[in-house]
Amino acid sequence: MKPTVAPFHHAGTGTWSYLAWDPATREAAIVDPVLDYDGASGRVTFVSAQALVDAAAASGLQVRWLLETHAHADHLSAAHWLKSNHYPDAVLAIGAGIVRVQDTFRAIYNLDPGFRADGSQFDRLFVDGETFRIGDLQARVLSVPGHTSDSSAYLVGDALFTGDSLFMPDGGTARCDFPGGDAAMLYASIQRLYALPDETRVFICHDYGPGGRAPACETTIGAQKRGNIHVRADTGEAEFVALRRARDATLPMPALIIPSVQVNIRAGALPQPEDNGVRYLKVPLDTL
Ligand SMILES: [Fe+2]
Repeated sequence: MKPTVAPFHHAGTGTWSYLAWDPATREAAIVDPVLDYDGASGRVTFVSAQALVDAAAASGLQVRWLLETHAHADHLSAAHWLKSNHYPDAVLAIGAGIVRVQDTFRAIYNLDPGFRADGSQFDRLFVDGETFRIGDLQARVLSVPGHTSDSSAYLVGDALFTGDSLFMPDGGTARCDFPGGDAAMLYASIQRLYALPDETRVFICHDYGPGGRAPACETTIGAQKRGNIHVRADTGEAEFVALRRARDATLPMPALIIPSVQVNIRAGALPQPEDNGVRYLKVPLDTL
């Protein structure tokens, strides 16, 4: 059984969001929706998320799931906005490892005691191997920690949504130097993904068009095993970990990590307005 998959590119952050549905029942999931945030003005808009809503409506889809592959550090999630404004009955889900991410970043942001690091901001916390259905399609959760401790990949029929565990083959893999990241753990997670059939369609979460090529989002497990520049089928753990650590040591922090994570650990909910009606994000100094 194959889902129909429509990709949506967010040019500002290089993020791919997806609308994936069962063509028989037209039940759908939205994967990794993006909230538009302009750091210079502090302005939040919903153009990209509205495009997902419009596309779902145009195809006559019932959105049942709002799936996060992890608490992203490069963009703000639109999942809460989608649930609040359009899909109140959809299940907003993420990997159970979010609790660790929340605990880490609650301390960094010094969030008020009302913030609970228990995942309760989400409707469902997935553990490894858990299954669910999108219409008649069977979906399975693969916990793939390494980039972050809450990373999950979602296998829906023959389509794998990897989050950041794998980029396109010429992009390699995501960094493992955020709090909770671990290159050896990512290597083990990728081995699990590489055990899937070679023809499995792979939909990645970010692409920055290496070498100036156009942004791309779809590949296969076979293509990754043959050609991923960081980890091929025969790449050993020590080789991968050394490469990943060396590369991570050169990377600056993502431009939006500070605004993103404090919102994404709340499932995309913005902070409550203060007594003047204005919402504020926090900027912790000298912590990351
Ligand atoms: Fe990420």
